[in-house]
Amino acid sequence: MTKENLIELLNKDLKLEYSAAIQYIQHAAVMTGAQFGDIIKELKIHANEEIQHAITLADQIDFLGGVPVVDVGKISVSSDNVQMLKQDLACEEDAIERYKVRISQAQELKELALAQQLMNILATEQEHAMDLKQALGK
Ligand SMILES: [Fe+2]
Ligand SMILES: [Fe+2]
Repeated sequence: MTKENLIELLNKDLKLEYSAAIQYIQHAAVMTGAQFGDIIKELKIHANEEIQHAITLADQIDFLGGVPVVDVGKISVSSDNVQMLKQDLACEEDAIERYKVRISQAQELKELALAQQLMNILATEQEHAMDLKQALGK
């Protein structure tokens, strides 16, 4: 693991934070039904938190000497509420796995401030996954 490898991986994370924000905005807008009212509000909060993650990652990439990407990763859409929530949960579970790995990579390079920032992001992703699981009755 070199600093360059880490910058590349953080840029992949950044792309997926952009995607997550857009996916949440779209899902919150198209989701309907009174029983989904609470989770729709949560999805909008998640969208804002994903933007905050993107800002943090972009700043950290710049600090490490890299150039933050501006392209967006895969976005999943559906016309079915439950399907949308499952898509969102899959993204969160992927993020949780990626950030666990990223934290140890940052620690390996002694980038401890970055590791701390990634731990904060990981904690939010875990909350997001919990909100979605609850809404899915899992
Ligand atoms: Fe995020
Ligand atoms: Fe998230």
